[in-house]
Amino acid sequence: MRTILFTGKGGVGKTTISAATGILASQFGHRTMIISADAAHSLSDAFEVELSDTPRKIAENLYAQEIDAQKEIERNWGIIQDYLTKFFNSQGIDNIEADEMSVFPGLEELFSLMQIRKYHDSGEFDLIIVDCAPTGDTLRLLSAPEITNWYLKHIFPIQRTAAKAIRPVANRVLPFPFPSDDVFESIKKITTQIQGLSDILRDSGNSTIRLILNPEKMVIKESQRAFTYFNLFNYSVDLIIVNKKIPDKVKDPFFREWKTIQTEHRKTIFERFHPIPIREIDLFDKEITGIKKLERIGRIIYGEEDPADIFYSEKPFKIEKNGTDYIFSMNLPFLKKEEIELYQKGEELIIKAGKYKRNILLPRILMNLNIKEAKFKNHILSILFTKGGE
Ligand SMILES: Nc1ncnc2c1ncn2[C@@H]1O[C@H](COP(=O)(O)OP(=O)(O)OP(=O)(O)O)[C@@H](O)[C@H]1O
Ligand SMILES: [Mg+2]
Repeated sequence: MRTILFTGKGGVGKTTISAATGILASQFGHRTMIISADAAHSLSDAFEVELSDTPRKIAENLYAQEIDAQKEIERNWGIIQDYLTKFFNSQGIDNIEADEMSVFPGLEELFSLMQIRKYHDSGEFDLIIVDCAPTGDTLRLLSAPEITNWYLKHIFPIQRTAAKAIRPVANRVLPFPFPSDDVFESIKKITTQIQGLSDILRDSGNSTIRLILNPEKMVIKESQRAFTYFNLFNYSVDLIIVNKKIPDKVKDPFFREWKTIQTEHRKTIFERFHPIPIREIDLFDKEITGIKKLERIGRIIYGEEDPADIFYSEKPFKIEKNGTDYIFSMNLPFLKKEEIELYQKGEELIIKAGKYKRNILLPRILMNLNIKEAKFKNHILSILFTKGGE
């Protein structure tokens, strides 16, 4: 099963483009499900039909669903949540706060994404399209499997079998209720599901992320940050979509300055995301809702191509740990060693060679380290980042 996640800053066009992609994919004969994992659903507005957490058929081969995160939490986390509430109560924390504390950050997103796993297992669909929450939340969501696993391991470090043996004593001597068998059973189930989801999303032969931007400064910056972390967490980005470009045909002097600014930003987008393929969509003269207009958007992005194709499958760069050092490496097939110039400016790494310029936003782990050496061999640039001095 193919999975495509659409993400980008708020309002850039995620829902519109997810819906447009779904329509086109269904016309290619892919049994397609679009799910909205953003708590503020607007997929129904895009399609102009009512949607709920029960899948609804929109067209031949096309289904859509808006996930009820609260329901998913109750279903998956209910038993653990009850236990944690009791635990917090026993520590003198009152009911409302205890309820809040028993749901960790990222859980809503995580359980929304669990739907992907469900469909993966059921085999009902060839393609799942996920209209994600804005980038910041998506990043949190994609690291949610690790974070949740961490919580579970640290909060419930005891194995279930050991728990059986110590429970009778524990309940008498401990100043808090000891988890029941059900709680351990639930944790085991969730841990397995999380692993399953993580494996699906990191399978670059089937799952990819498409990043949507507008040619605006703030949007580019946020997307670049997300791009760096997707790469770091081993998720594949196969397409960049630049939406809402002012059309060339617009000659109104009011937009002249805007067009110059956008041209500059489009160049920046190329420098920051190349070699990931970039597609552009003009700003329409009205909102885009309903199947017909969405289909038009789909054609602008994909032309005659199948939207379920994988448009790019290599990792733009790699970061590996070597003791306390890190090695950043990247393939630069067309450059000559003597042309390459490297600069580090705060969180940015700039690679220049003649007219070629790449700008990479370094992840936090590298920012406070120093570049010890840089090598260029077999067209691979590798940079050694170390702690401390030279
Ligand atoms: N190319 C375009 N031309 C004109 N309007 C557009 C274009 N793309 C999207 N829109 C409109 O912009 C608005 C925001 O788009 P959309 O809801 O798809 O963004 P989003 O990224 O999902 O937003 P949110 O972050 O709020 O979920 C919608 O009204 C949509 O119809
Ligand atoms: Mg949206």
